[in-house]
Amino acid sequence: MYGLSLYLSYKKIMTETNFQTFNINTTTPYNYILGNSLLWDIGNLCRKIKNPCKVCIISDEKVFSLYGNVVQTSLDVAYFHTYSFKIPEGETNKSLNTVESIISFLNENNFNRDDILIALGGGMIGDITGFAASIYMRGINFIQIPTTFLSAIDASIGGKTGVNLKYAKNLIGSFHQPSLVICSIETFRTLPQEDLRNGLVEALKMAIIKDSSLFYYLKKLSAKQHLRQDFTQEHPIENTSNTISQQLYNLKISSDDFMFIIEKSIAIKTKIVIEDEKEQHTRVLLNFGHTLGHAIESYSKFTISHGTAVALGMIMESFAMKQLEFVKTDFSIDLYKILYNFGITPPISLDAKLLENFIQKDKKNRENHINIPTVTQIGESNIYKVSKNTLTEFVSESLNILEEIKHEV
Ligand SMILES: NC(=O)c1ccc[n+]([C@@H]2O[C@H](COP(=O)([O-])OP(=O)(O)OC[C@H]3O[C@@H](n4cnc5c(N)ncnc54)[C@H](O)[C@@H]3O)[C@@H](O)[C@H]2O)c1
Repeated sequence: MYGLSLYLSYKKIMTETNFQTFNINTTTPYNYILGNSLLWDIGNLCRKIKNPCKVCIISDEKVFSLYGNVVQTSLDVAYFHTYSFKIPEGETNKSLNTVESIISFLNENNFNRDDILIALGGGMIGDITGFAASIYMRGINFIQIPTTFLSAIDASIGGKTGVNLKYAKNLIGSFHQPSLVICSIETFRTLPQEDLRNGLVEALKMAIIKDSSLFYYLKKLSAKQHLRQDFTQEHPIENTSNTISQQLYNLKISSDDFMFIIEKSIAIKTKIVIEDEKEQHTRVLLNFGHTLGHAIESYSKFTISHGTAVALGMIMESFAMKQLEFVKTDFSIDLYKILYNFGITPPISLDAKLLENFIQKDKKNRENHINIPTVTQIGESNIYKVSKNTLTEFVSESLNILEEIKHEV
């Protein structure tokens, strides 16, 4: 009853709140609904695509404790028959064992193909829920409710699902598009700073490969961060050893900033995914910075965050492709300054030789070659084939260059 009265009072606010709907026109099209304070309206929004049925909310323990009850109540009020399945936080739980537990739970509760799953959480929850949905009874529908900045702009769009094996990330997976994505940006207010920074790196990646207006927006936003009164005197660069200090200063990102960045990123990702749903060519562009980024993550045994590793990867790949004369300009200094202002300070004391070993093991290698997305000018990019050996030749040189940039900034 309490839930119902809260819901009704909230509903009134909701009707006055704007949200935008984007159509993601893949082979099975779906809508992406972006707004503020949408969680109490999840049930209603789901009713627009689905009559009452069984719904299983899949979430991690932390996200469920923050938002699970609101989402569950909203679905109950909209006459869905709601279940929940909680997974402990962390990437190690994005595993086949967890998928088996989800599937057993669905089976025990007689879920069938007319029922739906809801992924409430970040990319980890989105990936595993999407994968379970793609194989349970040969495929049931699922809805994404991304609660991290990164999943809102990237992981929740495009239908890539998957789980990790002990020795390789995302080695098992499928393409399975969601039926709906609902992003309510107030959920980012509880995100740790590190997760905000991870999202900013992915947004910067999207911008630099495809949209100069987003790039200059982010550049301006990054410059504003230094005006923060709570910016500590600590110089971010001095903090870098092999790990990054996460508490440099709190980022100032307004709701308008979030809306603008997400809207632009949805447009970029949708365009790329529509062109190449199964990652045969254009979609590789989204891996800008990720070849070296993944090598750095593995090298650090995942003590360096994904965002920081990709940030460093973008800088180093940009430098290497200029040295290889695939492009005329390298954007490493520009990128470094923006990342630095956001408090994303790539650790520089990396061992080039060890890093090279991880590049050699990259799972995207095709007969000793890697397809490297390369920025030709801000907002434009291309894919070039480079041999692993050639790329590794530039690792130590680009690490030296990073040292030089550090003194310039
Ligand atoms: N499918 C794709 O296209 C794609 C793209 C990029 C990344 N990914 C995958 O996404 C995963 C990373 O996703 P992520 O960066 O969103 O991290 P995540 O899902 O692991 O979440 C990070 C942390 O934030 C917490 N969290 C989530 N939302 C919160 C909130 N609103 N408030 C407070 N805490 C919150 C979680 O509990 C977790 O501890 C990886 O598994 C990666 O492989 C997938």
